[in-house]
Amino acid sequence: MAGNITFTMIKPDAVKGGHIGSILKMICDAGFSIKAMKFTKLSAEKAGEFYAIHKERPFYAELVAFMSSGPIVAAILAKENAVTDFRTLIGATNPAQAAPGTIRALYATNVGENAIHGSDSDENAKIESDFHFAGTERF
Ligand code: CMP
Repeated sequence: MAGNITFTMIKPDAVKGGHIGSILKMICDAGFSIKAMKFTKLSAEKAGEFYAIHKERPFYAELVAFMSSGPIVAAILAKENAVTDFRTLIGATNPAQAAPGTIRALYATNVGENAIHGSDSDENAKIESDFHFAGTERF
């Protein structure tokens, strides 16, 4: 059965570009509710830990530097089929391939600076949510 939460980060490029409000409106208009949210900045160590699964990839160092370069908005979102529906809303990892009207088509710069993260499975949604939020920060 599909899970009902996903984890997201509005990435440093979209924060710098002034797109937090527009992106949150798209998320809420798409029927997601906010279970937890924080405006924060990842240290390089924390960003490296979060993306440890990509450690062997050639873009890992660049990814860690980018994700720790400025503040992000981290959130846990709830909706039926949250993981799948959220990935549809944000569009493909590479904005050049993202469907028109998706968050990445509208706000991402390139495959590295791609505006927003969305969990890729129910299992990772739980792991990523637990990485960023204590039980007392969830409503
Ligand atoms: P995200 O969905 O947050 O998960 C992994 C991230 O790695 C991805 O978004 C991109 O920002 C980044 N990424 C994936 N492929 C590449 C690539 N070819 N070059 C640079 N960054 C990448």
